[in-house]
Amino acid sequence: MRDKAIITSALPYANGEIHLGHVASTYLPADVTTRFLKLKGVEAYYVCASDDFGTPILIQSEKEGKSTADYVAYWNKRDYEDFSAFGIDFDYFYQTSSPENIQFVQDVFMKLNSAGHIYQKEIIQFYCNNDKKFLPDRYVKGICPHCKAEDQYSDLCESCGRVPEEISDPKCSICGQTPTKEKTTHYFFKLKNFSESLSKWLDENQNLQKDVKKYVQNWIKTGLVDWDITRDISWGVPIPLEDAKDQVFYGWFDNHLAYISTAVKFLNDKGIDGKEFWNSADIYHFIGKDIVYHHYLFLPAMRLGIDEEYKLPDFIPTRGHLTLQSKKISKSRNWYIGLKEFLQYYPADYLRYYLVAINPYSQDDLNFDWDDFTTRINSELIGNLGNFVNRALGFTKKAFEGTVPEPEEYDEQDKEAENKIKNLANELGALLEQNHLDRALKKIMEFSSFFNQYFQHKEPWKKGPGTSTCVYLSVNAARSLSIALFSFLPNSSEKIWVQLGLQGNVNKNNWESLSELQIKPGHKLGDASPLFAKVEPEDIEKYKKQLGHTG
Ligand code: 2FM
Ligand code: ZN
Repeated sequence: MRDKAIITSALPYANGEIHLGHVASTYLPADVTTRFLKLKGVEAYYVCASDDFGTPILIQSEKEGKSTADYVAYWNKRDYEDFSAFGIDFDYFYQTSSPENIQFVQDVFMKLNSAGHIYQKEIIQFYCNNDKKFLPDRYVKGICPHCKAEDQYSDLCESCGRVPEEISDPKCSICGQTPTKEKTTHYFFKLKNFSESLSKWLDENQNLQKDVKKYVQNWIKTGLVDWDITRDISWGVPIPLEDAKDQVFYGWFDNHLAYISTAVKFLNDKGIDGKEFWNSADIYHFIGKDIVYHHYLFLPAMRLGIDEEYKLPDFIPTRGHLTLQSKKISKSRNWYIGLKEFLQYYPADYLRYYLVAINPYSQDDLNFDWDDFTTRINSELIGNLGNFVNRALGFTKKAFEGTVPEPEEYDEQDKEAENKIKNLANELGALLEQNHLDRALKKIMEFSSFFNQYFQHKEPWKKGPGTSTCVYLSVNAARSLSIALFSFLPNSSEKIWVQLGLQGNVNKNNWESLSELQIKPGHKLGDASPLFAKVEPEDIEKYKKQLGHTG
């Protein structure tokens, strides 16, 4: 682990609201990781931007009678607000259409061009005579030539994850007609030039997930396809060459460069040399498995193509997709839950808890299930964590007027309890460093469960010998929980901190201090109150109906 880090997560298209599927696979894991790294004392920055360019955004803004700039500004603001309400704490949230990114993209292109990684080719492009448009990317649907899956967009097969060279049985996705083919001249990025260097990088980088590496290596073996980086539309980063005056870059040429341009702008504005920081930091790109091709091949190849002026990623944590009630999320079929709407029903921490708990560090899909959500919140978050904290603090308040007592001599159970506290930082830290956020959260819950049982066995309410030791250790365990939970459940973590009567903010502590018994005898607690309220099955039924999730 380096002492600096830049964390990014797949940039959200400025074209619609953030839903649970988005946050589960990328933004939440990235946020939990960043918070953890900061507690560890790493100078870590989480930067993101709205992904502003592309045909769908152009068409939608036209439909709504807005300028593209106003349209993306609206979604940039709205997305940022929704993320913030969910506790996603970006250090900076910018735009791919920023002047800094446009300049950077154009510079990168010119460098790739001079290094011989770009060429021009006349191509035949699908054209819809009905809509009078070239039909790039999402505007053509058809059959994937690799896996034969039907109804796939021409720029990405969602079934096998590959980018088809030419989709079979094409149809215009606006009007459904079979498009014709017209000539146009495009720029291509020679991805093929990088087969060997990419393969070497994949082999050498031990931080990348083994299963993902394996299939990416297979793609390389079967042959990479050069990327068409030009689009015949008006909304995008202009190609800085005379003969491409009316053309722009493909969105996937410019968007990942905004990881760099956004980080550098943010750092430079803070008076830090952004480029130097980037190159001496651990670089994390959190993504969902649908954009593996872009992040494991295209993105590193472009950085290699400009002689690694900006270093390649160290970590690309790649997770599966969220399904909803075991069915694929689909905005067009209204089978999704908007983040904003969910947060009107339940506090952010409930959702953060659930989405981390069900989310392994793998590409397996995860499922949001309303009944499972109800059970886990009620039995784990409330029955275990909420119960322990409330019990320990409530009892101290009642029996000791809120003043932490002097411990007595430790018996075996007390020693075990003390050891649990002393080992927690290392045990959790190891899991978090390896990206096993779900396992770390489970360990926190096991810790809480241990202390629930400890409290139960010690029966402090009988006021027998060992009562004050039990209270002293339990209150300190609640403090450990507050710090350990900061990355996962920031609001609840702060609440515990305040109830413990501790000063300052939780995140001003360093990670290791969660294993120290810093609450001393004589310390006065704040007021204890329940951390969570039960999830009522009747409410869940009501929300399901409102969302149309009864099917
Ligand atoms: O798939 C998407 O939603 C894209 N907007 C992700 C872009 S990530 C990037 F910038 F690399
Ligand atoms: Zn059409």
